[in-house]
Order: sequence, then C-alpha cells, then structure tokens
Amino acid sequence: MQIDRTLKKVSGLGAIQGQELGFGNVFSDHMLVREWVNGEWGQPMITPRAPIPVEPSALGIHYGQSVFEGLKAYRGSQDQTLRLFRPDRNAARLEASSTRLCIPTLSTEEFIECICQLVAADAEWVPREREHALYVRPMVFASEGHLAVRPASRYQLVITTAPVAPYFSSRSRALRLKAESRFTRAAPGGTGSAKTSGNYAPTLRPMAAAAEEGFDQILWLDAQEHAFAEEAGQMNIFFRIGDEVVTPELSGTILPGVTRESVLTLLEDWGIKASTRRISMTELLEASDDGSLLEIFGAGTAAVIASVASISHLGHEITAAPVSGDSLGGRLREALLGIQYGEIADPHNWVRLVS
Ligand code: COI
Repeated sequence: MQIDRTLKKVSGLGAIQGQELGFGNVFSDHMLVREWVNGEWGQPMITPRAPIPVEPSALGIHYGQSVFEGLKAYRGSQDQTLRLFRPDRNAARLEASSTRLCIPTLSTEEFIECICQLVAADAEWVPREREHALYVRPMVFASEGHLAVRPASRYQLVITTAPVAPYFSSRSRALRLKAESRFTRAAPGGTGSAKTSGNYAPTLRPMAAAAEEGFDQILWLDAQEHAFAEEAGQMNIFFRIGDEVVTPELSGTILPGVTRESVLTLLEDWGIKASTRRISMTELLEASDDGSLLEIFGAGTAAVIASVASISHLGHEITAAPVSGDSLGGRLREALLGIQYGEIADPHNWVRLVS
C-alpha cells in the first residue's frame, strides 16, 4: 500500500531525554491519518504529529461514533528488531467494534501495514528499556458534521504513538480494587465488548469515587445482579483458585483482550487448567476465606500483568497473595515479555516484525 510521508525536520526525541516515562504523557513525532469519504478509504498519510481540524458538529464527538485500539511495538532485547504483538487480533477487534458502531472497517493487512510504516517512521522512539514500549493508538471517528443521529458519511482514521512504561508500574505495590455495586460498565445487548469511547467516559465518576476511598481500580460486576465479576477498569481479570485459573467468559459485556487470549493459550501450553466462566463474588469470598484463592491479576496491553492484592466488596475483603517472580502471574508476565522482546521462542507466531 502506498503511504505518503512528510517527515519532521527536527525530532522531538531529544527534548524528552532523561524524562521518566509514564503512560501517555509523551508522544512521538508522527501520526498517520486517513479519510473515509464517498464510500471508500482514501490514501493514508504519515505527517508530523499536530492537532487535526475537527468539524464542530462531528458525529463522532457528539454521539460517540468512534472506536479505538491499543497495541505496542517492542525493541528486541538482543537484536534491536522492532516487533508488534498479535496486531492481527487488534485488527479483528477493531473490525468487530467498527461493525457494532456502523463504522467502515479496514482490512487486517492495511491496518498492519499502516502501523508498521508509522512505527518505522518513528523507530527511534521505540524505547530501549525492557518493559517500555511504543504504544500504538489507532482510532476511527465519525468526522461528518450533522445533527441527526445516524451513521456518518465521513470518517477519519488517526494513528498516534507514544513511548510508554506499563500502565501500572511493576515496581508499585499490588493493586487494591473496589467491586462496584452501584454503577455498571456494560449491560447485555450493549457495547461492552466493543472498544468504543462511550464505554470509558461513564467510568470516570465511579473511578474518581473509588480513588477517593483509596482504591486503585474498579472491578466491574454484571449489570443485572451485581453478583459476578466482569473486568477491571483497563484490563481483564484472572483468579487462581486451587489448581484452576478462571477468568470471566466473554459474554458480550467484557472486552475480548488480546493479552487475556494470550494468557489462556500460555496456560493451555503449560498444562494448567484454565476456565472461562461466570465467577460470583460469593465464590471469590469463600475462596479467599478458605485460602484457596492463591492469586488475582489483571491482564491487558497497557497493564501487561498487574498484580491485585485485594478486592473490596460490600464491606468484605477478598485477598490473595501478590504476584511475585515465582507466582503464576509472574511467570505469565515473564513469558509474554520474553516473546515480545524476542528473548524466547514464539511457538504461536504471535510476533510480527516491523519491516
Ligand atoms: C489497552 O490496554 O491498550 C487499553 O486500551 C487500555 C487503555 C484504555 C489505557
């Protein structure tokens, strides 16, 4: 695919040297933009990162017709080669999210090609420090200005990249979650499994309240009974109970995480029993009380594997041992990072080299 490039004359990389990376506080030099108009995608362009003009009545910002993705580019520890992790799974999820929101889809090949060329243009921005990566954020929004609630006739794809540390620092303590018993993230028949902006803004107020109470994140529960675990804020959730690892099944209200899927595959490779099913808060409380709840961890692209120390639910504390080097969460984290940084074999061909 032909992608026009206008590159920045002076990189902004020098200006951020020595600055501690967080998650999303620094952006690289370039972005990729592509318009969908008259029923087809136009020519993608890589340009210096800059504000984009937005029609004040853009349907995407008024009515939330927008979808996004998140994946990372890693620099090989030994060979310095740049790698993407399972970009085909992000392409498939973007397609599913777009279909749910009546947004035109992109082919997997074009999605990956756009990302490879953008990452190649900003290759120097891919961090050298292990656990740091170049986060790639593709988004598609309805750019047509109109007031009717209907699918737009114009869309804009924008892909930006940002050098990042993990969303939750692996050096910080294990997370404390609050199981949210009043507000819900997603209901059956809604958009919970789509990566759409509208799933995030409604979580801000409950998250602010949880933070005021001293929690790091929310564990969202099912919308009907507020009795079953669904997902944690910016990641999927896993529980190790006795000799089984369980994570909520994809019921339509949970984001189908690429890291979640990869964890399930690794567990299968390792011969560890892993189930996807409904998990009630009562079961978790009982497992915590009788000592069979051995680990809780979150899994996500931004979060990688994040250790969870406790979940507070209606005045009860559900606790598990923190994820350490020899815990299952720690092993999973190392295996994923090992594949992503090209340090160990990649038996499922998850890695795609940026060429
Ligand atoms: C990701 O893990 O890529 C996400 O999209 C989480 C993000 C909302 C911070």
